[in-house]
Amino acid sequence: MARMDLRFAGYLPHPAERDAPVTAVVAEATGDDVPMLALLQTRTRGGSAGEWADRIHRALCSERSLVITAKVSGEAVGYANAAFLPEHVEDGAPAGYYLTGVTVAPDWRRRGIARLLTRRRMDWIWERDSAVWCFISAKNRASLDLHRELGFDQVTVGASFQGIEFAGGEGWLLRAHPPQP
Ligand SMILES: CC(C)(COP(=O)(O)OP(=O)(O)OC[C@H]1O[C@@H](n2cnc3c(N)ncnc32)[C@H](O)[C@@H]1OP(=O)(O)O)[C@@H](O)C(=O)NCCC(=O)NCCS
Repeated sequence: MARMDLRFAGYLPHPAERDAPVTAVVAEATGDDVPMLALLQTRTRGGSAGEWADRIHRALCSERSLVITAKVSGEAVGYANAAFLPEHVEDGAPAGYYLTGVTVAPDWRRRGIARLLTRRRMDWIWERDSAVWCFISAKNRASLDLHRELGFDQVTVGASFQGIEFAGGEGWLLRAHPPQP
């Protein structure tokens, strides 16, 4: 089983100081972005750039999948995916569109970039389905706050979802529906 191996941001619900929000350009990634995104992933999440490049390339080529980047002055500072995943019978994760992994470069955090990347993916999914799913380690409090703020509610907790095991504990399966007009 795959492990969710992440370096979580320190949990700071009320930081003493903040950088100004930044205007990042969010767009669908292309093949040209892959080396830059692989570098971002390897610096922030570990693993080799080659493995990340293969993974990102596969995501770009998959059907029913979205790969987006956030750039500031042409530099990739954020990366995120969304994809349709089939039901995972072993851990009970239903079939549906999932947000899969959002990463923001440490120097650019807390400036609204993940919020932007997540809203963009939610809109993309709502053009296709009425539910957006994601799963997050219970220890990743920064990510839980980010997603709850955007309307996600806990559906259940478990040791793994979609075959991804949570390092040292359990994770939450969350879902959001489009706002009612
Ligand atoms: C989690 C992560 C993507 C957030 O990116 P970000 O661009 O800094 O997030 P944003 O600036 O858009 O923050 C939006 C909201 O999320 C919450 N949040 C983000 N980082 C937080 C932190 N370190 N502590 C507490 N809350 C946090 C806050 O509610 C924040 O709103 P506020 O700044 O108005 O208080 C980033 O820290 C990261 O890349 N972490 C490592 C990878 C990871 O854990 N990805 C998520 C996998 S599920």
